[in-house]
Formats: sequence, C-alpha cells, structure tokens
Amino acid sequence: MANFQFISLLLTTFFLFSLCTSRDTITLDAPLTYGDTLLSSGGVFTLGFFTSNNMKYLGIWYTQIIQQTVGWVANRDNPMLDSTGILSLNTNGSILQLQNGSAKVFWSTSPMNRVTAVASLLDTGNFVLMDNNTSIILWQSFDHPTDTLLPGLKVGLIMGQPRFLTSWTSSDNPSSSNYTIKLDSAGFPEYFILDRSKRVYRTGPRNERQFSGEPEMETDSKLIFVLVSNPNETYYTFYVNDTSLISRLVLNQSFLQRYVSDGSGWTLYWSLPRDQCDNYAQ
Ligand SMILES: *[C@@H]1O[C@H](CO)[C@@H](O)[C@H](O)[C@H]1NC(C)=O
Ligand SMILES: *[C@@H]1O[C@H](CO)[C@@H](O)[C@H](O)[C@H]1NC(C)=O
Ligand SMILES: *[C@@H]1O[C@H](CO)[C@@H](O)[C@H](O)[C@H]1NC(C)=O
Ligand SMILES: *[C@@H]1O[C@H](CO)[C@@H](O)[C@H](O)[C@H]1NC(C)=O
Ligand SMILES: *[C@@H]1O[C@H](CO)[C@@H](O)[C@H](O)[C@H]1NC(C)=O
Ligand SMILES: *[C@@H]1O[C@H](CO)[C@@H](O)[C@H](O)[C@H]1NC(C)=O
Ligand SMILES: *[C@@H]1O[C@H](CO)[C@@H](O)[C@H](O)[C@H]1NC(C)=O
Ligand SMILES: *[C@@H]1O[C@H](CO)[C@@H](O)[C@H](O)[C@H]1NC(C)=O
Repeated sequence: MANFQFISLLLTTFFLFSLCTSRDTITLDAPLTYGDTLLSSGGVFTLGFFTSNNMKYLGIWYTQIIQQTVGWVANRDNPMLDSTGILSLNTNGSILQLQNGSAKVFWSTSPMNRVTAVASLLDTGNFVLMDNNTSIILWQSFDHPTDTLLPGLKVGLIMGQPRFLTSWTSSDNPSSSNYTIKLDSAGFPEYFILDRSKRVYRTGPRNERQFSGEPEMETDSKLIFVLVSNPNETYYTFYVNDTSLISRLVLNQSFLQRYVSDGSGWTLYWSLPRDQCDNYAQ
C-alpha cells in the first residue's frame, strides 16, 4: 500500500510537472518537432509523433491511459519513414503543415486567407487552427475524424459535407481501410457500415430514443446520445455525463465498438454487429 501511494505520488508529481512545463499551442515561431508534444491545458490529450509498424505518424492520444490509444491521425495514408518530422505554421495561407527534414510535405490543411493563426490542442481532443486575433476556427481535427468518435465530435452531414469514420487497416496500421460508417439521410437518419460501397451493417432508423436496431445506443444517465437533424446538419454525437468516465466509439474494420475507461485500461462496453443476424440483409 505504502509503495502504491509512493508510486502514485511520483506519477502525480510527474504529471503536474509535465503540465507546468508543457504547452498546448503551436505558433509561427514555435513549431512542433519530432519528440516534442503538445499537452491540452487540462492534460487530457497529447499530440505528437508516434511509431506504428516502424512508420512515423502525427496523432492525438489520451495522456493518462498507459496503453497508447490514438484517436486521430494526421498523415494516416502518408507515413513518414524517419524522425525528422516537424509540424509548423506557414504564413503563406495560414496552413498547418507536416514536413520532413528535406521539406517534403506529408500532410497539410488547405490554404486560407492570410491571418495570424495559432494551433491549439483542446481537452476535448479537438486540435484547432484559429485566427489568433479573433479566435475564429479556421480548421479543426473534429471536421476530419479518422476511426474514433470522441464526445462532441459529429458524424453525419454538416453543411452538406459528409463526416464519417474510416477504420484502420489493421491494429498497427492507421492507413484508411475500406470500412466506413456513414449516414444515410435520404429517409429517417440511419447509419450504415460500408465495405467500400457495399452495405454490411445498418443501425436502423432513429426513433425518439434510439436507433431501432440498437438498444446499446440508447441514452442512459452517464452516456447521452444525441441525434440532431435540421436543414443545415444531421449528425450523431454523444456526451459523457460523469467526469470520472472516459468513453469513445471506434470503427474497427466491420465492428463498431464502444469502450469505456475509468482512466486506467479500456473495457469493451458493446460491439456491433452483435452476431451474424445483425449483418445487412440477413
Ligand atoms: C505562396 O502560395 C502561393 C499559392 O499557393 C504560391 O504560388 C507561392 O509560391 C507561395 N509562396 C511562398 C513563398 O511559399
Ligand atoms: C523526406 O522524404 C523523402 C520522401 O520520402 C525522402 O526521400 C527524404 O530522404 C526525406 N528526407 C529526410 C531528411 O528525412
Ligand atoms: C492581428 O493583430 C495584430 C496585433 O493587434 C495586428 O498587428 C495584425 O495586423 C492583426 N492581423 C490581422 C490579420 O488582422
Ligand atoms: C497572438 O495574440 C496575442 C494576444 O493578442 C499576442 O500576444 C501574440 O503575440 C499573438 N501571437 C501570434 C503568433 O500572432
Ligand atoms: C479489431 O479488434 C480486434 C479484437 O479486439 C483486433 O484483434 C483487431 O486487430 C482490431 N482491428 C483493427 C483494424 O484495429
Ligand atoms: C479495398 O478493397 C480492394 C478491392 O477489394 C482491395 O484490392 C484493397 O486491398 C482493399 N484495401 C484495403 C486497405 O484493404
Ligand atoms: C446526469 O447525471 C446527473 C447526476 O448523476 C443526473 O442527475 C442527471 O439526470 C444526468 N443527466 C441526464 C441527461 O441523464
Ligand atoms: C443554418 O445556417 C444558416 C447560415 O449559416 C443560419 O443562418 C441558420 O440559422 C441555420 N439554421 C439552423 C437551423 O441552424
């Protein structure tokens, strides 16, 4: 017990120390170089470089969960081969760009009107590029999800733009697989897991409380699901009504999984399809 307390004191001290010496923002004169990280202001998320299958990626993961869990990847389909990566702001067009030591661009945001921009990692896990003078958001990672739905991230159709999840190719390869989960808003909003264009699974249309086929996706007092539909946007998101609970939804190939955590490891809360009968057209 004493040992445990000592270790947890040590970890807490280390964590607080990290908080004090870290930053959450990239500015023009302070880019992020390989090995360096951004820590969101409350310490919840970290942004930095990670290695998977010997390739280097820029991503966002949960700071306190020991088993590194990446929720967003910038260059998922364009991995870097060495440790010369640098994420910086370019004055010409206010773009955020990931380059290697010989200035080859591996990922970037699209150019915008010239403004003085800064890029900050928020405690929600959203990485935002904003005008430093007005705080208007110019670009955000929540508009470009990879395989993970974090609380507050919207999947659906936002101002005519589809926003969906695409699973990793395998557990150690973040590159885009053929599996996506997309909204079909033609009738009542309904989500489909697709293998390229082939429908492999459907949630069923949403009624007042839940997707008809999915008691799992029903709101309880801790996990609040929201389906919003108005002329501008139709989307699904969720919130966690318990500060001690962490939850994420991830598309793992043809499975949609909800994981919950108390801050240590992850527990699989549910996985869909539950069985063969759930598969589309069966
Ligand atoms: C700035 O961007 C424009 C348009 O993309 C490009 O033509 C020009 O070469 C860039 N200038 C510099 C200095 O990068
Ligand atoms: C940058 O990437 C290119 C293309 O992959 C590669 O040829 C070059 O060696 C890399 N440069 C450095 C310094 O890593
Ligand atoms: C941003 O604010 C600074 C200082 O107030 C000012 O010098 C600069 O011109 C502003 N930039 C833009 C694009 O408005
Ligand atoms: C952002 O704005 C703050 C306050 O207005 C200013 O102190 C800082 O220098 C600006 N940073 C950049 C990169 O423009
Ligand atoms: C999906 O989950 C299973 C079991 O947890 C795992 O074996 C598999 O590698 C995962 N697939 C991906 C693409 O992460
Ligand atoms: C996607 O499907 C095509 C056609 O079946 C296949 O050739 C390709 O390897 C698949 N891609 C991945 C990442 O599995
Ligand atoms: C959120 O949690 C509080 C406290 O447990 C509870 O009173 C409240 O009803 C919950 N909110 C919702 C929308 O379920
Ligand atoms: C839809 O977007 C327009 C333009 O941004 C805005 O004026 C309007 O209030 C929005 N409607 C809803 C229901 O959010």
